[in-house]
Amino acid sequence: MWVHRRPGWYLKESAATDESAYLNRRELVAAIAAGPILLASGGALAQRATDDPSAKLYPVKRNEKFTLDRPLTDEKEATTYNNFYEFGSHKTISKAAQDLKIRPWTLSIGGLVEKPMQIGIDELLAKMPLEERLYRHRCVEAWAMAVPWSGFPLKALVDLAKPLGSAKYVTMTTFMDPAMAPGQKQFWYPWPYVEGLTMAEATNDLAFIATGIYGKPMPRQNGAPLRLATPWKYGFKSVKSIAKLDFSEQRPATFWETVQASEYGFWANVNPSIPHPRWSQESERMLGTNERVPTKLFNGYGEQVADLYKGLEKERLWA
Ligand code: MTE
Repeated sequence: MWVHRRPGWYLKESAATDESAYLNRRELVAAIAAGPILLASGGALAQRATDDPSAKLYPVKRNEKFTLDRPLTDEKEATTYNNFYEFGSHKTISKAAQDLKIRPWTLSIGGLVEKPMQIGIDELLAKMPLEERLYRHRCVEAWAMAVPWSGFPLKALVDLAKPLGSAKYVTMTTFMDPAMAPGQKQFWYPWPYVEGLTMAEATNDLAFIATGIYGKPMPRQNGAPLRLATPWKYGFKSVKSIAKLDFSEQRPATFWETVQASEYGFWANVNPSIPHPRWSQESERMLGTNERVPTKLFNGYGEQVADLYKGLEKERLWA
């Protein structure tokens, strides 16, 4: 089916936070580049019973250092309004994502490390210091939530990986299995989903690998069994269902940066005074209540992370 798209300047500011429209736009940009597309037909997939062997580990103890200035988002909202393009480029992928096979799950660690390794998810969970943290999450599309993640500091995983002194970046890559995740058949996207951080960002206290949410194992749609949480950055940095960790000297080409570098960059730090090319970032809509609240610099985490960017002022830190 051929589709026609109005030019970007046609969009009214008020349309910017209508995510379904936004996503259609994003898909259309790709579709125009790619030629005809078939729209995936909906179709309810049976929700699998909770079959996560890590369920016994939760709930984990809350780390009171990480508190919120706003109420927690309703669990149902946070687990049924998702971005997970591997399962569809719309928000209601929670049923389709039940096809994600979470066992066996192996994390491969390689690149500039003392010794490459592979570790099974349950062995990894047994080694890591699990705790709960209350974090904000700010999507680049201007919706936001506040959730209790369970998991462990990314630094603990970096320590386990033993990177060499020459490593400057860590890249995190999602699984690749188009038969299981039909979104990965959309050839105009550069699958698999890849994200990266500098070593200083990755070892900052706030960088967190989430393995659960609301005192339970991570639901598939939220990125089971391992997903990144970097709350001072736009949500597209928080890569889901991580299967590979790579340490390198070169900055990785990340997923959205490859799709549209003018709109989504490597750094992606939250800044209300730098608009997205097509909409304002001054405020955000809370999932569930639809309340609009002002967006804060670094999503309110400046005290913990602003120093990471000293001397990098020439970089596009906010896109
Ligand atoms: N990770 C993968 N593998 N695929 C995705 O499509 N979407 C990102 C991020 N991580 C995405 C991903 C975006 S745009 C956001 S806002 C968050 O996941 C959404 O996380 P949530 O669904 O748990 O709210």
